[in-house]
Amino acid sequence: MNKTISAFISGIGSEVPATVITNEDLAQLVDTSDEWIRSRTGIQARRQASPELAASDLATIAGQRALETAGINADELGAIIVATSTPDMVFPSTGCVIQKNLQATNAFAYDLSDACSGFLFALSNGSQYVESGMCQHVLVIGVDLMTRITDFQDRNTCVLFGDGAGAVVISGSKETGGVLGTQLGTDGRFGEILQVPAGGSRMPLTEENFSERKQFIHMNGSEVFKLAVRSMEQAALQLLDHTGVSLKDIDWLVPHQANKRIIETLGKRLQIPGERVFMNLQHYGNMSAASIPVALDEAWRKGLILPDQLILMLAFGGGLTWGASLAKWSLPPQS
Ligand SMILES: CC(C)(COP(=O)(O)OP(=O)(O)OC[C@H]1O[C@@H](n2cnc3c(N)ncnc32)[C@H](O)[C@@H]1OP(=O)(O)O)[C@@H](O)C(=O)NCCC(=O)NCCS
Repeated sequence: MNKTISAFISGIGSEVPATVITNEDLAQLVDTSDEWIRSRTGIQARRQASPELAASDLATIAGQRALETAGINADELGAIIVATSTPDMVFPSTGCVIQKNLQATNAFAYDLSDACSGFLFALSNGSQYVESGMCQHVLVIGVDLMTRITDFQDRNTCVLFGDGAGAVVISGSKETGGVLGTQLGTDGRFGEILQVPAGGSRMPLTEENFSERKQFIHMNGSEVFKLAVRSMEQAALQLLDHTGVSLKDIDWLVPHQANKRIIETLGKRLQIPGERVFMNLQHYGNMSAASIPVALDEAWRKGLILPDQLILMLAFGGGLTWGASLAKWSLPPQS
């Protein structure tokens, strides 16, 4: 597609809480071991936000860092889009709280969910506001405090998740580049394999639901694993087909950081060698909507992702939801 305005990633930032939960810490809580967690998931540690912190607190810091790298002020933002499954509260939206914190007085703000794929859905929204000329700059944030909805009595899930926030600024430019295309998909028929059953209008929080621990993540891990690989592979191939880009031209695969084995299987199927696949899940676990922007930020700050490189982002999450996004990197290396 020929665009008169392209949506460039002009700024990026992230924030993770200081507290580290190791595999050994979890082995004190449930019947598990460092060996099991490492070999089945690749995760060695994850971060946990202290009780007084909410999603907006981490997201505001990530957003400020993204604005700094973009070199713009918060009042230049036209929109703030926040992907999260762990908002501060039902309403106001976490986006509105962040707008207040940043004093982004000229922006409109909202949240979207779509679980671990949320960041790519938000990136797609933000890019379209920029490409249509509706906004010059959009702040797109992925934030999740997954430890708030994780059952630390359930060994099937508690080893997987962590907390964090990542943000990008998307800005309009007449040059070609930036976000080149996005492929999104959902299949609500598989909703039950990964869900938080209670806390919404279907099953409000009651003492009974609480005692049955329905306010926490419930997951069929092996089903999720299979569908994750299949849907991300398909989304990647469809996106490359639409954009006319070949797999061998991809410089970096930056996938959702859920499980090392999912990522390795995906890399093999797409024939992208391991040295071109970025992984940081060993340090953070699965931070849901935050995982891709935090990974992008880390890869860029380490000097791995360079200008003009082609970045393929792939995500998968509860819903089921999935997405693929292709971007030409434009931020210069950090000095
Ligand atoms: C959860 C996951 C790590 C389990 O790995 P797996 O290789 O599928 O596990 P297996 O089927 O080989 O083994 C399951 C067994 O391990 C046990 N097990 C589960 N978690 C365990 C843990 N933390 N420690 C030790 N044993 C554990 C189960 O109880 C089960 O035991 P059983 O066979 O006696 O019933 C894996 O399925 C996975 O990562 N799925 C995707 C999850 C995900 O990414 N969700 C978020 C998507 S956005």
